[in-house]
Amino acid sequence: MRIYKTKDYDEMSRVAANIISAQIILKPESMLGLATGSSPIGVYEQLVKWYEKGDLDFSNVTTVNLDEYKGLPKENEQSYYYFMHEHLFDKVNINVENTYLPDGMNLDSEAEATRYEALVKSLGIVDLQLLGLGRNGHIGFNEPGDIFEKATHCVTLKESTIDANKRFFDSIDDVPKQAYSMGIGTILRSKKLLVVVSGEEKAQALKDSICGEVTPQVPGSILQFHNDVTIVADEAALSLVPEEYLSQK
Ligand code: F6R
Repeated sequence: MRIYKTKDYDEMSRVAANIISAQIILKPESMLGLATGSSPIGVYEQLVKWYEKGDLDFSNVTTVNLDEYKGLPKENEQSYYYFMHEHLFDKVNINVENTYLPDGMNLDSEAEATRYEALVKSLGIVDLQLLGLGRNGHIGFNEPGDIFEKATHCVTLKESTIDANKRFFDSIDDVPKQAYSMGIGTILRSKKLLVVVSGEEKAQALKDSICGEVTPQVPGSILQFHNDVTIVADEAALSLVPEEYLSQK
């Protein structure tokens, strides 16, 4: 596990964007796993800037997203489909036919989970999966629980997640109660994992993920079992992680 400590969100975003950019330059037909939420917005902004300068070409890139709210149509501004188009897909030369997210409007949970898991598998191995970390330690929408869910599944969101995400909605009642998410097994199949974490409110979850016991109560702790993880986090997020962990390889 490599841990890069940055001074703030902007530096975190640039470092992570550099890693993604290197991935695309070295392998133009990369398959990227993508995340939404506030953590990766700066990363996408930086990638868009480099694309506009002519330094990045997304034309051969394929993407699969971690998750999507169940019941939100694509045109809803809070859907992850909308987010990805707003922050990345509509601003670069990616072929949108090569971008995939769970279908939030398929209300048949089992059918959608099975379809998306099979789709992701059929596309091959994700070269680099970008992840954020929830305040409660979730990755994707794999919430704390008794088991690590292996495959894509329909999740009933925890109150803590609904509370954390209410800032994006007019009211807490508008936050969907369920979502589709890649499972822990789906995420761990990726060759590389790149985790971006910013802010003091993530410090405990990040400490538990890096230094704590590996347990489904802290889904991010499973990162300790993957052999190619890079965490890019700012000082505030890393404030509870002892110094000796920062230099481990
Ligand atoms: C989003 C996702 C979530 C977020 C996490 C952190 O696709 O899978 O795990 O990464 O909830 O969200 P932010 O970045 O908004 O703090």
